Amino acid sequence: MTEKQTWSQRFESALHPAIARFNASISFDIELIEYDITGSQAHAKMLAHTGIISHAEGEALFSGLEQVRQEYRQGQFQPGIDAEDVHFAVEKRLTEIVGDVGKKLHTARSRNDQVGTDTRLYLRDQIHQIRQLLRDFQTVLVDIAEKNVETLIPGYTHLQRAQPLSLAHHLLAYFQMAQRDWERLADVYSRVNISPLGCGALAGTTFPIDRHYTAKLLDFDHVYANSLDGVSDRDFAIEFLCAASIIMVHLSRLSEEVILWASEEFRFVTLKDSCATGSSIMPQKKNPDVPELVRGKTGRVFGHLQAMLVIMKGLPLAYNKDLQEDKEGIFDSVNTVKACLEAMTILLQEGLEFRHQRLATAVTEDFANATDVADYLAARGVPFREAYNIVGKVVKTSIAAGKLLKDLQLEEWQQIHPAFAADIYEAISPRQVVAARNSYGGTGFVQVRQAIINARTQLGVS
Ligand code: ARG
Repeated sequence: MTEKQTWSQRFESALHPAIARFNASISFDIELIEYDITGSQAHAKMLAHTGIISHAEGEALFSGLEQVRQEYRQGQFQPGIDAEDVHFAVEKRLTEIVGDVGKKLHTARSRNDQVGTDTRLYLRDQIHQIRQLLRDFQTVLVDIAEKNVETLIPGYTHLQRAQPLSLAHHLLAYFQMAQRDWERLADVYSRVNISPLGCGALAGTTFPIDRHYTAKLLDFDHVYANSLDGVSDRDFAIEFLCAASIIMVHLSRLSEEVILWASEEFRFVTLKDSCATGSSIMPQKKNPDVPELVRGKTGRVFGHLQAMLVIMKGLPLAYNKDLQEDKEGIFDSVNTVKACLEAMTILLQEGLEFRHQRLATAVTEDFANATDVADYLAARGVPFREAYNIVGKVVKTSIAAGKLLKDLQLEEWQQIHPAFAADIYEAISPRQVVAARNSYGGTGFVQVRQAIINARTQLGVS
């Protein structure tokens, strides 16, 4: 049997060791220890500020908590399973350090509002860090885009060659996705940054606490208006996991493209040795492990979102121990998103080389300029649908003749329709096909150059 627990004298015997292990969260919620200490320091200050404890007691608690922090940082304080969770662990160590006054820390507080406070403080920090990593990722995308405005790459729909693109335009699509991720996290942050501290176990407290005071000390924007909601709300966790999942969707899509591009079938990029691995049996292999792992790790983040939604569904008010299950998914999602953003940024920065020669050939070897032939006729008065049908026939006969559109003689063009003139060749050259798509947000070089300027401006906003 383990040592008798922290809770009340109502209990006569200790927990069964297996149940103690089952119940304990210390193995993972130790991640929250510094936030727990910071939250408790604010609580101690408030207790003194409101006269619930004396100033001397408040100071003793504050500096005792600081000592716990230092001991933890120096590796001298490593709470074990007997502490159950990080909150009990800190309170117990504090009392060992400061003596009986340590037992006053938990006045007018419950672990329910405490754990909610800690988790929010943790997520706040992590959101800052993830947003910074998104900025790094976006910066690399713009850097590469800037060098590749006039590099052409086949564009696809249904994974069939559709229309050629500026490579910069393709990369800037991911910039925009990351921009939304960055903005979305700011929005999530506004709902993470609400203080549940002082909601007590569920109903508030009989002490004359000042919740706004602790909120201010801890830099929370607001306090929860309803104590039941405050201790049992995990919307902020669901929202965070949702934002994390969307980041992973974006990283996974880019990963999939890089994997395709690196294949022998596409040959659009070469993987550099610093970011690729070999096979243990096939000496010729160079594998895209980084994007594959990112694509694979996406699953666990989606899983944590699903788990959180299921944990909450049907949970009666207010706190229930089910809520202890929120943490591992949050921690793992945070760590996964950070690691994947970092790896993808490095991969883009130094692990990928675009094969310019191959790309230049790729955009000339297909019928991706067919729309431009139709547009050519439409611009000369032929109704678009009629032009579309004419070009469809041209593509069909060209395929049968083993030719591309650029191979047709001017007489052949003119037999197809008298509106065709010598400038058709220029109109269907890949460079012109891209340049001509100068509509706002299109792949035309003028648009893409402007998009790069806009992206740099967006990166300047903090
Ligand atoms: N370890 C608990 C958790 O993570 C702390 C809150 C415990 N509250 C309680 N009423 N048992 O949720």
